[in-house]
Amino acid sequence: MSKVLVISTSLRAGSNSDILTESLIKGARDAGHEVEHISLKGKDLRFCIGCLVCQKTQTCVLKDDAVWIAEKVKNADTLVFATPIYYYEMSGQMKTLLDRMNPLYPSDYRFRKIYLLMTAAEDEDDVPEKAVSGLQGWVDCFEKAELAGTLFCGGISDPGQASGKSEEQGEAYEFGKSLE
Ligand SMILES: Cc1cc2nc3c(=O)[nH]c(=O)nc-3n(C[C@H](O)[C@H](O)[C@H](O)COP(=O)(O)O)c2cc1C
Repeated sequence: MSKVLVISTSLRAGSNSDILTESLIKGARDAGHEVEHISLKGKDLRFCIGCLVCQKTQTCVLKDDAVWIAEKVKNADTLVFATPIYYYEMSGQMKTLLDRMNPLYPSDYRFRKIYLLMTAAEDEDDVPEKAVSGLQGWVDCFEKAELAGTLFCGGISDPGQASGKSEEQGEAYEFGKSLE
């Protein structure tokens, strides 16, 4: 059993990636994992200013929600990020969050397995590539961790549309069940 932290990054009402995240969480809980879910909706999340003070102090000079989220990320066994594809990349808010996790770089972080769930309007195989590659770049900097799996659900566009997508919900559930 792992301590799983799920971070969903879409900010819109009726988010498709949130809907599939709920299926993923059900699967993870059914597999016996302890799951905590954080949505970035309503969070105060500012851009990293690059001062690098955190590399000495392991805390950020910006006092917003990224500070306590970083603490949760640090102490989880498994991380799951959920993002809509924006211009063939992860959402800007997800990238901002990853940058703000910089205080963890010199820390004794616990996480080892990282997963990514993505939704997009288009359904071609190359649509998620850059988002996966972007997260891989972050994971590569945390040498004890690995990008252990990704799930791309394309062909989902309007808010709430994922509610009617039982096949994708099933895939997300199985993805959640397969987390390590
Ligand atoms: C700013 C923006 C950029 C987008 N760029 C893409 C894109 O490059 N490719 C694509 O297939 N869909 C794109 N979409 C559509 C979303 O990925 C799609 O609607 C997805 O289901 C949204 O997930 P959400 O409801 O969880 O936010 C974009 C949507 C927005 C708002």
